[in-house]
Amino acid sequence: MESETLKKKETRLLTVSDAEKDSDALRTAGQIIRQGGLVALPTETVYGLGANALNPQAVKNIFLAKGRPQDNPLIIHLEDASQAQLYAKNIPPVYYELCRRFSPGPLTVILPKKDVIPPETSGGLDTVAIRIPAHPAARAIIHWARVPVAAPSANLSGSPSPTTAQHCIHDLWGKVDAIVDAGECSVGLESTVISLAGEKPILLRPGAITPQMLREVLPELVIHEAVTQKLANGIRADSPGMKYKHYAPKAQITILDADSEEFVEYVNSHAKEGLFALCFAEDIDGLKVPYVSLGKDEADQAKKLFAALRELDERGAKQVYARCPSKEGVGLAVYNRLIRAAAYHEFAPQDEEE
Ligand code: TXA
Ligand code: MG
Repeated sequence: MESETLKKKETRLLTVSDAEKDSDALRTAGQIIRQGGLVALPTETVYGLGANALNPQAVKNIFLAKGRPQDNPLIIHLEDASQAQLYAKNIPPVYYELCRRFSPGPLTVILPKKDVIPPETSGGLDTVAIRIPAHPAARAIIHWARVPVAAPSANLSGSPSPTTAQHCIHDLWGKVDAIVDAGECSVGLESTVISLAGEKPILLRPGAITPQMLREVLPELVIHEAVTQKLANGIRADSPGMKYKHYAPKAQITILDADSEEFVEYVNSHAKEGLFALCFAEDIDGLKVPYVSLGKDEADQAKKLFAALRELDERGAKQVYARCPSKEGVGLAVYNRLIRAAAYHEFAPQDEEE
């Protein structure tokens, strides 16, 4: 049991209208991190809860603010790939090739860690996860912090990741020193996580950098089975985050593997109080139950999924039928998050016997 508690904090809202220019707010945010504070900050994927990755107490406060299990390691965020060698060792040349293609951006790479990274940050592992974010506000904050910034997603542990400052305010007001508002995140799902610390490169979490893109540099990339399935008992969780329940809304979600017509028909014929559809744009006209739409294509679905899960809770959904995303491209990442939100409940209506 965690005996330490976090003192209630006076939270400041720092609004950034133009992340490229508005450097006062960003400089303040960087200085708060440098001095050991906690700042919820925008990145292109989701909002992160940043602290000095080299300061064990600051990192402990991240875990306390989120209610996150201490063995779940944090990603460190750097301004430039050339800084990776300060915190990681035995870096294979392919790391730099990946960075040339995909950094800055939504890619996190796990490497063997150097001793400067405290065990609080690495969850006691001998590896460290490194990401170079692309969002100009995140980059400016890291720049002003002048330290590597440890940042998990800025949600309470178990809630959907935040894609707006309002989501951070909802989850973390009074628990952090500042929340930086720079609008909606452009990707909407967390970064792709791969490990280069083992025998073979392995994809641990899909994101906007897709397996197809990675295989241009890493033809032998393996996809961990937990990306699309529940981790079987006894199988090692290569990424501790895999074993925790994630993104769970209050409603029970069931994924329907169906085309638009089958989806609409199944949902309408099971209409009842508290039932919602989590649908695509093409389903809207036919639906006779309340719905939240994820939009048209995979990129829309990625951007809208987490806000949609929060909206379903706010609107009091008790049961949700969700249209199954395609597993192509960034669709794999949407599917990966949705099966966790649905606690792996999925079926094809055409296989069901009435
Ligand atoms: O897009 C993102 O990655 C966002 C933004 C803020 O950068 N961050 C994020 O962090 O999603 P978090 O903590 O919510 O997810 C990080 C995942 C967790 O599943 C964690 O277990 C895994 O990466 N991870 C971190 N360090 C690891 C390591 N050394 N070995 C294996 N898995 C690691
Ligand atoms: Mg998270």
